[in-house]
Amino acid sequence: MKARITVLCENTVGALIGTGEHGFSAFIETEAGSYLFDTGNGSSIVRNSLLLKKDLGSIQKIFLSHGHYDHTGGLPDVLRLKGEVEVMAHPHMFLERIAVVKEDNGEKRRFVGIPYNRSYLEFSGARFVLKKEFYEPERGIFLTGEVPRNTPFEEPDPRLFAKVQGNWVPDQFLDDQSLVLDTPKGLVIIFGCAHSGMINTINHVMEKTGMEKIYALFGGTHLAFLTPEQLEESIDAIKRLAVEYIGVSHCTGMKACMRLAQEFGDRFFYGHVGATFET
Ligand SMILES: [Fe+2]
Ligand SMILES: [Fe+2]
Repeated sequence: MKARITVLCENTVGALIGTGEHGFSAFIETEAGSYLFDTGNGSSIVRNSLLLKKDLGSIQKIFLSHGHYDHTGGLPDVLRLKGEVEVMAHPHMFLERIAVVKEDNGEKRRFVGIPYNRSYLEFSGARFVLKKEFYEPERGIFLTGEVPRNTPFEEPDPRLFAKVQGNWVPDQFLDDQSLVLDTPKGLVIIFGCAHSGMINTINHVMEKTGMEKIYALFGGTHLAFLTPEQLEESIDAIKRLAVEYIGVSHCTGMKACMRLAQEFGDRFFYGHVGATFET
């Protein structure tokens, strides 16, 4: 299946038009129709979609990577334009979530979960399909479902917590999943934040699809939150896979992006608002 991916929401703007925000969203066009992966935090998706001429009213399905506000906050705006639509995600996307961040010489707890409740979104048109497994919601398009944590160097972000049975516990992110496109040039993997680990996700995708050719990597990789040693282990793993293009962004962070650019040269590009990639 051929596809064109356009970044609708991201932390930075690289094209002449658009608005940056802390978040991620990608618009995917295929011969079978258009799809949306994540929705950003709600500050820019509608404006950027209009400027980039991507019709949110035309999407056939919405895929969500996980329940963080910067991937789900744009849902009401999209639903207002689209009306009823299937939204594929994991049941844990509705967990309450916080980040403990250093601010003003102290620690602050910030709410980072999905900012809208399920009923509101359903009344707005969302038809949730919540699954935990790897599956193929559309021909040639896969959702990874829960990703097994196997690599020793991809550790959970210690700042992030979720409320489980009334208690704040380190967030396990069982809902973290990525989207996979099976294209003639190989697999394209689009991460949301890759909280379960970029390499864990890639390994899971290769095992489930039985395919080894990874054509491109897109989206947020959370490499920014690994130690320098862990980052090098991730880069070594990508090199062994012979990925052709790396167009990551969002929670990859500038330092890790610079390291990727240094390592992969022209095979690396930054996936800012307006970046497009065709297979
Ligand atoms: Fe994110
Ligand atoms: Fe996230």
